[in-house]
Amino acid sequence: MKGVILAGGTGSRLYPLTRVTNKHLLPVYDRPMIFYPIQTLVDAGIRDILLVTGGHSAGDFLRLLGNGKDFGLKHINYTYQEGEGGIADALRLAEYFADRGPLCVVLGDNIIEGNVRSACDRFRRNPSGAHIILKEVPDPQRFGVPILDGGKVIRIEEKPAVPPSPYAVIGIYFYDHTVFDRIRTLKPSARGELEITDVNNSYIAEKTLSYSVLDGWWTDAGTFESLLRANCLVAQSAARQEDRASGSAH
Ligand code: G1P
Repeated sequence: MKGVILAGGTGSRLYPLTRVTNKHLLPVYDRPMIFYPIQTLVDAGIRDILLVTGGHSAGDFLRLLGNGKDFGLKHINYTYQEGEGGIADALRLAEYFADRGPLCVVLGDNIIEGNVRSACDRFRRNPSGAHIILKEVPDPQRFGVPILDGGKVIRIEEKPAVPPSPYAVIGIYFYDHTVFDRIRTLKPSARGELEITDVNNSYIAEKTLSYSVLDGWWTDAGTFESLLRANCLVAQSAARQEDRASGSAH
């Protein structure tokens, strides 16, 4: 399976931090944000990766990541999103890369503690429909929120004022090749974007969307609060790992 990282956008919720650079190049503890979604894909066993970016700092990604040596990769694919059209609009650029195969799509500002290897392996074995990952959060109204009924997701609402469940749909998605036909049918939402939630709802309408619940912490990093939270969570995990390493060394 191939992987796509969406790392475009203006990052306007982080102005002025993102006035002269791309959100995904900002630091999260000891690494640039973009390192984390790449690691997520590599940890899931995905080595064929497309990075979708845009804006004025696209060249910085190439300077920073090169061919992916930091991650044990030999090559990274890059593509450029002109303008701002939302997550589903950015994903459209991956159609040629996907070559009618299944994809794991990761939003560039999503960071997880653990890995999505088991979900990825399951989708690899049966690469049809879509698979999403949920995480219980204290503030679901900031995210796509699933309505669950009888162990199934029957609809996803994007940033509902009154969340229908305590879960967020995290920014790691598995799609079959029909995702691109679905994107072609989308209309811009009230915020003027092609919404990934509308893509997911189109799979739900055909009863071909499954879900799992993530172990370990998850955060996005696209606002001041969540960026700070991401820094703290990564720093705490690093400290715990160091403790374990020095504990086992004694
Ligand atoms: C996007 C999606 C939302 C999802 C979130 C995860 O929100 O639209 O459904 O829950 O990513 O990070 P955005 O970051 O565009 O507000």
